[in-house]
Amino acid sequence: MQTFSSMPGPQPLPPPIKDTSEKLVNDFAHPFKPLRPHDIRGPCPGLNTLASHGYLPRSGVVTPAQIITAVQEGYNLGHQFASFLCYTAFLTDGNHLTNLMTIGQNTTTHGHPTTGLNTHGHFEGDASMSRDDAYLGNNINFNETLFDAVCTSYRLSKLQQTAVGGGLLTLDAIVLNRQIRIQDSIARNPQFAFETPRFLGAIAESAFIFAMFVSGQTADNKKPLTIDAVRHFFDFHRLPHGFHRRQGPFDFPLVENLTYSIVDMAGAKPGSNNGVNNYIVNTQDLGTFCYVYQKQINFTATLYPNPTPKLRDAIKQNMLTYYQALGDPKCKQYFPFGK
Ligand code: HEM
Repeated sequence: MQTFSSMPGPQPLPPPIKDTSEKLVNDFAHPFKPLRPHDIRGPCPGLNTLASHGYLPRSGVVTPAQIITAVQEGYNLGHQFASFLCYTAFLTDGNHLTNLMTIGQNTTTHGHPTTGLNTHGHFEGDASMSRDDAYLGNNINFNETLFDAVCTSYRLSKLQQTAVGGGLLTLDAIVLNRQIRIQDSIARNPQFAFETPRFLGAIAESAFIFAMFVSGQTADNKKPLTIDAVRHFFDFHRLPHGFHRRQGPFDFPLVENLTYSIVDMAGAKPGSNNGVNNYIVNTQDLGTFCYVYQKQINFTATLYPNPTPKLRDAIKQNMLTYYQALGDPKCKQYFPFGK
């Protein structure tokens, strides 16, 4: 176990990867390996798969820099958005002193107590594509019935003659699936919560499967997705055979454009249920990435009402890194622990 003084504390963002071309990533250097006892996986099919192929530590206990580099290497997620996403999670789920987080449950097996992405109600949330709402059941593990809704969306979009061909998911099918998942939570989950950050998070995740689970996806996201590929990531935590990462990074503003297209196409609005079938739209919720940052900073401050000076400094530093990761000077910066 690390002693208090040897803990690394907050670290700067790692540099962007240099080569962002399309390339084979399911290669000999990164073989799939089944889970060992104590290996941790969680609600994110993207990160689970990277850990199962060794792009992330197979244990599932990771640093922010390891995540930011691995998602670029494995999927060509852009450096800026990868950093923003990673620190959004880290500021809820990370240990600021050890600089560690897990991609799933909390653990003490790997040294210090380490918290992880399973924490419900902030980043992990309702209306997921392949995991249940926490109120309704298991919100972390793959759920075959929900996956069926992905297949149904594909079939429906095909009926509407918007699909490109057999066994392929178009953007229309992804949008349909997003609508089905939101309607399902409205109908069954009296505590359905779909406000920032979950609102943009859930919709960005729908964009993610389209932009990054397609082998060799084009820079303009024109290639459709296969059900088989989605199954590989969601269920097996495994890269499809011969999988190539996309052509060129998926970064701001591409991520924003695709996410807001899905918001518009799905007619999605941030809000929450007050009892089943009683969805109340929150008109105060700005539903922007600046707002994700603002809410995250406020939320993190509430997690640490009384930090030690060392912890306070570490959180302050990570909050500065988070603003740097957001990378938009038009967003107001917040300093709950002072400048
Ligand atoms: C960069 C760091 C990342 C973090 C911290 C992260 C974290 C998470 C978390 C906490 C969830 C659970 C949300 C829920 O309740 O559904 C999630 C879901 C998801 N993530 Fe990630 N993720 C990251 C990167 C990625 C990447 C690179 C991909 C794709 C290549 C990806 C694909 C997905 C998908 C598709 C879901 C939705 C699963 C579902 O709805 O069933 N993520 N992620």
